[in-house]
Amino acid sequence: MRNMFFIMPVLICLYEICSLILPLKISLWSKVLASIILLAGLLKIFMYRRTSSGFDMTELPYYANVLVSVIFNFIIVALFILLVKDIAFIILRIILRFKFPSHYASLAVLILALCSTLYGTYEGMRVPDVNTHEVKIAGLAKEFDGMRIAMLVDIHASNLNNREFVQAIVNKTNALNPDLILMPGDFVDGQVKTRYADVEPLKTLRAKYGVYASTGNHEYYFDFTGWMRQLKEFGINFLENEHVIIESGDAKLIIAGVPDQTGGNHNTELAVKNIPENVPVILMDHRPEAARENAKYNISLQLSGHTHGGQMPGVYELVRRANGGYVRGWYDVKGMKLFVSPGTSQWTGFQLRLFDPSEITLLILKSE
Ligand SMILES: [Fe+2]
Repeated sequence: MRNMFFIMPVLICLYEICSLILPLKISLWSKVLASIILLAGLLKIFMYRRTSSGFDMTELPYYANVLVSVIFNFIIVALFILLVKDIAFIILRIILRFKFPSHYASLAVLILALCSTLYGTYEGMRVPDVNTHEVKIAGLAKEFDGMRIAMLVDIHASNLNNREFVQAIVNKTNALNPDLILMPGDFVDGQVKTRYADVEPLKTLRAKYGVYASTGNHEYYFDFTGWMRQLKEFGINFLENEHVIIESGDAKLIIAGVPDQTGGNHNTELAVKNIPENVPVILMDHRPEAARENAKYNISLQLSGHTHGGQMPGVYELVRRANGGYVRGWYDVKGMKLFVSPGTSQWTGFQLRLFDPSEITLLILKSE
């Protein structure tokens, strides 16, 4: 399975050389050069290496990493467009017996893929906008009516989502003057010693009732123990099958969290054990796929991420199937509200957003 992680991109590159580059009416040397540039995008995959405490990535200078990312993004985007082109070619040739000049088709794919890649990479690397969502919570005390919750998920701090990027997210979030900040996972891609400076701005997050989090799958790929210690030092309180009660006078609101299934004992029943009656519960669960199970525990609102909204057209259905039917936005799950954030950013391995932007989420709670 792990070998497929490396073999598939190589096979995709070979397909693209045959279907995209070779049909172009350019010199042989230009085709060789274009093929070498395409293969250079595979560095993105081979930068990953195993260490004693999980994975780490070979450090490239920032702009070299951006260049490799653009090429790798092109490989993925071009694949989808090429598949459409080649299926159309087969239909035209077999059914209609029409032979379209392949060099024109390859040139069109090249231009479309290049424009989509450049736009998508820009969207994937910019600081996200704030999206505000009003959410009605049954039984919410009037003291919490209008409560502002900033939700940050899938920050994936990295060599690309670096210190400046994370600081900009923190600044934008603090400027919202949130009462509470919730972070359901996927903080960082990399080891503590290499990524500390990129994650450090999170210690300046400020909210009246504090900052709470649950783990995502990526927490378990890179020095879990080291990062938990570090993030807790930054004032981020992890809820691992547990809850806290937020109080304002006599009014109460419960915030619960479960760890990601990758490395934690995901146990929603335990997370909401012994909660007081008739107090609304907001649950952080990194992946949305357990929503139907979570809905059994009288939870008002589940907050998830992980899907990154699909990131680009063409993969929505794959992401939906892999995540229990949930990709982005609002769902009603047996009376429980589920919000799946498109993510504050995305995994550094595929730093692209095509017509599927990331967001800093601001939830405004309303009594129902
Ligand atoms: Fe995730």
